[in-house]
Amino acid sequence: MEHKRRKIEREFGVPIGGEILEPQFWTRTAIKDLPKEGPLPLKEIFGREAPLIVDAGCGNGRFLIGQAVWNPGTDYLGADILPVVIRYATRRANQRGLTNLRFLVGDGIGFAQNLLPKGRVSQFHCYHPQPYHDPRRALERMINPRFLSLVHQSLVPGGEFFIQTDSQAYWKYIQGIIGKFFEFQERVGCWPDAPKGRTRREILALRRGFRVFRGKGIRRDALTPEDLSRLETTLPLPNFITEPEVQHLDRAEREE
Ligand SMILES: C[S@@+](CC[C@H](N)C(=O)[O-])C[C@H]1O[C@@H](n2cnc3c(N)ncnc32)[C@H](O)[C@@H]1O
Repeated sequence: MEHKRRKIEREFGVPIGGEILEPQFWTRTAIKDLPKEGPLPLKEIFGREAPLIVDAGCGNGRFLIGQAVWNPGTDYLGADILPVVIRYATRRANQRGLTNLRFLVGDGIGFAQNLLPKGRVSQFHCYHPQPYHDPRRALERMINPRFLSLVHQSLVPGGEFFIQTDSQAYWKYIQGIIGKFFEFQERVGCWPDAPKGRTRREILALRRGFRVFRGKGIRRDALTPEDLSRLETTLPLPNFITEPEVQHLDRAEREE
């Protein structure tokens, strides 16, 4: 067999999608040169036009890697502010020989505002956005009215937004604003494709007995640019207080 199979990897005992190929089949999945202006040239990057699914704050890329392996007809793009996690993500994606997945280092707002073409994304995913426990950093929380407006603008009509967190305080905040942008439905229990968790943080949270809050929103296509500007300026900012036990989970995530 051409693509000789070598190795299945696991994280906390849960397999990561795909298998490590022989080095001659490895690809390069890091986008290192970001455009100074304007969105990413997606056709040039992927060498085709296909539905696009993105993950902001993608961490080690576990979710997108599995999706890209199982859905070769779709293109995937992940962004995270931390270079070290993107190095993990790209190494795994490269070793699986993936051509329909790319990762970049960048913050979620800049990603949605500058790098994604408007009206192009089929699904926008956000798993366990950093809760930022220090109240002085509360306004760095990625989920806020401006970000949701940008997600809305990046999506195709009828596009979907997936969000989850293990912080009840963050979830309460999200519940308070998300329905303005999306027809939102909470989900009870894990996503069917990943009964042990879609992402590293979700698997860790479930192993430690944390409740995970999940939901999916469908873009409210009737919203006009004026509606979005008004929502951005009138909805509350994420200056809630987080719960101490989530801080312990953050420490555990760094240590494991
Ligand atoms: C709790 S981890 C979750 C990672 C991954 N989504 C998961 O569920 O395993 C939060 C991630 O968000 C990233 N992050 C924090 N602030 C960010 C921002 N403003 N833009 C993009 N990523 C951010 C962190 O570097 C970290 O990888």
